[in-house]
Amino acid sequence: MKQQSIKVQNLYKIFGSGDNEVRVIEGADFQVDKGELVALIAPSGAGKTTLLMMIGCVEEPTSGKIWLGDELVYDNKWLTRQTRKIRREKIGFIFQAHYLIPFLNVIENVTLVSQVNGVSEKKAEAKAMELLEYFDIGDKARSMPSELSGGQNQRVAIARALANEPEIILADEPTAALDLERSVDVVKMLKKIAIEQDVAVIMVTHDEAMLPLCDRILKIENKKVVSHPVVKGEVGLL
Ligand SMILES: Nc1ncnc2c1ncn2[C@@H]1O[C@H](COP(=O)(O)OP(=O)(O)OP(=O)(O)O)[C@@H](O)[C@H]1O
Ligand SMILES: [Mg+2]
Repeated sequence: MKQQSIKVQNLYKIFGSGDNEVRVIEGADFQVDKGELVALIAPSGAGKTTLLMMIGCVEEPTSGKIWLGDELVYDNKWLTRQTRKIRREKIGFIFQAHYLIPFLNVIENVTLVSQVNGVSEKKAEAKAMELLEYFDIGDKARSMPSELSGGQNQRVAIARALANEPEIILADEPTAALDLERSVDVVKMLKKIAIEQDVAVIMVTHDEAMLPLCDRILKIENKKVVSHPVVKGEVGLL
């Protein structure tokens, strides 16, 4: 049976007020199940990053409800003062630029969050090595980010996002800086993670070629979120 990982109900996000008011999301309703890789698409400025940041407990919505797993985390206000903890424990973020810390080597970058979460250095390193090997970059563990290619750095960033065994991965244009072959690699990796680790993945993309690799498409339309099936060879959605 499919299990809900993310559920959003009647979600609103309005920035500013009066003349400065920007109405971004108005009444979004959707759900993402465990094991699903969902593409989030919409034109620039439509609110994709804002939506990810609300789900990731980074940006406070204006109103509505958000569940992460079975936990109702937002109901017109955060229901916990622990949004930071939820973020650290449940969510893995992957960004367009990989944002590795340039003066830490690969394995130090991957173990950073686990160590903030109180995992011992030894345990964090063992987990990080396992992930780096899984992504075929075990031999780069002691290299600096500047010594790796763009695709390799992005794999490190994915390993880092997985280090705390998140229930949810939020990826904001993770393939934007990569060529087609590397992009396909990264998206296939995300799908594999979704299935093998029962994680829900939402991936923002502007790349039509990535859509057939996803299970479903969420599109921000008229400030709401509409679900579309993936139709092989589909064009014109973006
Ligand atoms: N902190 C903020 N204050 C005011 N307006 C904001 C703020 N953050 C975002 N916005 C506005 O919200 C809208 C949605 O922005 P968002 O970054 O979510 O778009 P996006 O779909 O991710 O775009 P892109 O594809 O270019 O990354 C934009 O009009 C933006 O100007
Ligand atoms: Mg964005």
